Amino acid sequence: MSHDVSSRVMSGAEGSMATPIWKGRLTFIMAASGSAVGLGNIWKFPYVTGENGGGAFFLVYLFCVVGFGIPLLMAEIGIGRATRKNALDAYGDLSQRAGRHSAWRWTGGVAILTSFLVLSFYTVVAGWCLYYFWLTVTGEFSAADRITQSFTSQTFDHLLSAPTLLIIFGSLFLLATYMIVRAGIQGGIEKAINWLMPMLLVVLLILVGYSISHGSFSEAAKFLFFPDFSKLSLNAILVAIGHAFFTLSLASGSMVTYGAYMPSHASIPKTAIMVAVIDTLVALAAGLAIFPLVMEYGLAPNAGPGLIFMSLPLVFGHIPFGQIFGAAFFFMLFIAALTTSISLMEPSVAWLEQKSRLSRTQAATVIVALLWLLSTAAALSFNLWNAPVFADRTLFDALDGLTANIMMPLGGLATALFCGFCLKGTQLRDMFGDSPIIKPFRISVRCIVPCFIVIMIIASL
Ligand code: PHE
Repeated sequence: MSHDVSSRVMSGAEGSMATPIWKGRLTFIMAASGSAVGLGNIWKFPYVTGENGGGAFFLVYLFCVVGFGIPLLMAEIGIGRATRKNALDAYGDLSQRAGRHSAWRWTGGVAILTSFLVLSFYTVVAGWCLYYFWLTVTGEFSAADRITQSFTSQTFDHLLSAPTLLIIFGSLFLLATYMIVRAGIQGGIEKAINWLMPMLLVVLLILVGYSISHGSFSEAAKFLFFPDFSKLSLNAILVAIGHAFFTLSLASGSMVTYGAYMPSHASIPKTAIMVAVIDTLVALAAGLAIFPLVMEYGLAPNAGPGLIFMSLPLVFGHIPFGQIFGAAFFFMLFIAALTTSISLMEPSVAWLEQKSRLSRTQAATVIVALLWLLSTAAALSFNLWNAPVFADRTLFDALDGLTANIMMPLGGLATALFCGFCLKGTQLRDMFGDSPIIKPFRISVRCIVPCFIVIMIIASL
């Protein structure tokens, strides 16, 4: 271990276990933004915005990010840093210090399970991105006369119905995630993030420039920014609340675990705001990279989840330099998914490493083996095992629904109540310093977050 690295290892409370620390605030911001910026921003945000009325949906979503996203992000990073432990022990430790019931630690335990389950189906979609990268690079979408709407939908259907393709590309993606996480915080995640995040932003900016110069920018901007409130249904509001959780990687142990490695001198409120701003700007940029092209070619902006896998390849098949920009687009999706999947694997690996006698490599190997089994089963739910496993849903849909509609909202609620009513004022001041933000933070975790989540639960019943 080099001097630089060893000087960034803090002695932890778990025996001789030592907690590594990110190199600086910027590295933390990149890692946390890498977690937040993922398929949620580039694949999901454009199509949910498209389906739910464009600008009006975006305003509600912004309100959610400010009203509860940033406060919960602060809470989770703070809980991690105050204890420098895995998510289960972080909640356990703080509740003990506050003289409260040790059952609070299950908030962290469930969060770790959430990250594990999310990663199992995230891997499947990330595998699609990798496959589409392969297809664009090999010129599958470049012969313009062949590329019709039915060709692109057949290509997508073919992928979903082919177990081997789904398993091969999902496994490759999981392997990439494993190689990075296995190498540890400083030797693996930090190094990877330092390369991947700048690369992601550069490719995104190039794609936005290309899309604006070759597509209908004004139509796309009107669609994204003009708030037509007549299209805003109750369901759209629920989708906005759920998406705010998902896109900021909340209630999944990721931010608590990354927070445990955050340098002590960095300000949590400022950092949380920064991460939320980067995440939102990237989602908007993704919208601007996609909608101008989709609209220029007269395709529907509200094509749902297939927007990226069926409509965009059609555009890339007909536009100048479509092969290069198509490949760049799917490469960018792959990087975004990878920086997120690292943060989804880290909570379980950190927990297993700290709670057992396993080394980092052994812990990562056990977790990736279990993940591979579950994600393979989820992939098969598109073909060989296309049968309901729970409440009329296939395994893939059940995992998505269980985490997004139940585990994340309840986990967010528990974290809010934990910070609002269980922790002492002195503990909050230790976390955030004497910041004026503590007051609005308390209002949010005591009232706004619980109200939002209770509304969400009642409405979805
Ligand atoms: N924020 C990620 C995205 O937008 C998804 C995610 C959810 C990551 C939960 C970590 C935890 O794609």
